Amino acid sequence: MTHFMLKEICEQPDVIRKLIDRAISISFEKVDRINILACGTSLHAGLVGQFLFEQVAKIPTQVRSSSESLFAPLIETPNTITIAITQSGETADTIAALQMVQSQRIAITNGIDSTITKQVDRTIYTNAGEEKSVAATKTFTAQLVVLYQLALEAAHQRNQIDQQQFETHLESLRQIPQQIEAILKNNTIAQIAETLRDTRDLILIASGINTAIALEGALKLKEATYTHAEGYAAGEFLHGSIALLDPQIPTIALYPETVRKTIDRIRVNQHHVIEIPTAAIPELFTPFLTVVSLQLLAYELAILRGIDVDRPRNITKFLTT
Ligand code: AGP
Repeated sequence: MTHFMLKEICEQPDVIRKLIDRAISISFEKVDRINILACGTSLHAGLVGQFLFEQVAKIPTQVRSSSESLFAPLIETPNTITIAITQSGETADTIAALQMVQSQRIAITNGIDSTITKQVDRTIYTNAGEEKSVAATKTFTAQLVVLYQLALEAAHQRNQIDQQQFETHLESLRQIPQQIEAILKNNTIAQIAETLRDTRDLILIASGINTAIALEGALKLKEATYTHAEGYAAGEFLHGSIALLDPQIPTIALYPETVRKTIDRIRVNQHHVIEIPTAAIPELFTPFLTVVSLQLLAYELAILRGIDVDRPRNITKFLTT
C-alpha cells in the first residue's frame, strides 16, 4: 500500500477487534452529568458519545469544542465526569480546556504518556498504534469503541438495559470488524468517488447517531480532497440550507433509510442524491460503517485528484500551540 491513510483505514477491523473485549471499570452510579471536550475528528467522536450516553445510558451529556470551552466552560456538578478525547494527547486547546475543569477527568487518547495523561485522573488508551496520516481514521473508530463500551457499561450499571440487552449490544460491537472488512473489499465507494472527480461542493445528510458522522465525513473530505463539504442533520437541512443546492452540488445521504423525507425533497427539486448503502445492522452501531465509507471516499477522491493525501496543505497532525 502506498499511502498511510489507506493502510490505517484498512487496519480498523484489527484495531477494533483488539479493543472489544477489554474490560473498563468505571462507576457511573452517582454520575449526574457527563461533559466531553475535544477538537476536530475527536469532537465528532464526542458527539457520537453524547448520543450514546444520553439515549442509551440516560445521562445528561454536553459536548464542547475545547477551544470554545475556553470562552464558555461547561457547567459542572460535584458528580460530573469530564471526558477529554484526543488522538494525540497533545492538542493545546484540549490541554487548556482541561485545566479549567474541577470534576473527575478521564482522557481517551492514543498518545502513550502524552501531556493529557498527566492532567487527568484516569486514562483509557485507544491502542490503535501510531497514526501517520494527518487525517485521523483508525484512531476515530478506536475512540468510538471506547465510548460505546463506556456508555453500555453506564447503561447497564444504571439499569437502563438489562443483562441480555447488554450482551446483545456487545455482540453487535463484535460483529463490526467483519462488516468493515466487507466495505473494504467492495468497489462501490471507488465508483462513487469517480462520479465526484470534478465536484467542488458537497452536502452530507444524516440523522440521529449518524449526524456526527456527516460532520466527520465532511471534515475528511475537506482535509483530504479540498472539497467544500458540509454535514447536516437531514431534517434541519430543509429549513433553509436546501436553497444551496444546484445541479453542481450533489448530496450524499448516510444510512438513507432514516433520511428518506429529505432525499425525496431534494429529488423533487431535480437535484442529485448519492445514497451510501449500509449493511442491515442495528442503527445504533451504523456509525462504524458510515464513517469507514466516507473515509474511503475521501481517500479515493484525493487519489483521483493527485493530492498528497497523507500530508494535506495548511495542516499538521495536531495543534500544539
Ligand atoms: C483529523 O483528521 C484532523 N487532523 C484534526 O481535526 C484532529 O482531529 C484535531 O486536530 C484533534 O486532534 P487530537 O485528536 O490529537 O486532539
